[in-house]
Amino acid sequence: MREIEFAPCIACEACRETGVCVLKDGMTGIYPLLTGVDHIIVAAPVYFMSLPGRFKCLIDRCQALWFTKKKSRSLVAQSSSGIKRAGAFLSSCGYAGGEIMFPPAEKVVMAFMKTLDMSLRHMLYAPDTDVAGSIEPSMLDQAEKIGAIMANLTEKA
Ligand SMILES: Cc1cc2nc3c(=O)[nH]c(=O)nc-3n(C[C@H](O)[C@H](O)[C@H](O)COP(=O)(O)O)c2cc1C
Repeated sequence: MREIEFAPCIACEACRETGVCVLKDGMTGIYPLLTGVDHIIVAAPVYFMSLPGRFKCLIDRCQALWFTKKKSRSLVAQSSSGIKRAGAFLSSCGYAGGEIMFPPAEKVVMAFMKTLDMSLRHMLYAPDTDVAGSIEPSMLDQAEKIGAIMANLTEKA
């Protein structure tokens, strides 16, 4: 994502009618990826109880997909292999109170995934990263397991 240049949503509302974003930039190539892949794993830390700005910008640009869905009342996204799409969210936060920090960010990810016609199936949260060594080594195994589960989800839509 760091290498892809794209602007934030300007709320011009053109996509309300057309379902297509007027901004032609790096997002133009990202839309087909978001709508065509089998599954999406969001791996991002908590920033101000939400997601890092650059990723939030990407989510905001999905407003065009949201309007497409709202207008046509149909799916905007389908896995190219016909698999039922699913998502996962892996996150960390500095504060020890993960039960306060993760839920708001999780809601943002859920809204993103709902727009992409997928459900958030797996979450893995590592709080308290301000304290060195606080992430249990087993977290890496858990993350790998989630990756393996996602890679093997083959239930048809
Ligand atoms: C801009 C910024 C905002 C942050 N906001 C929060 C926050 O709201 N709550 C929190 O617990 N930690 C917050 N943090 C800490 C990060 O979530 C934490 O350091 C995380 O483990 C960083 O992940 P990374 O090492 O993968 O970059 C913030 C860090 C940055 C840089």
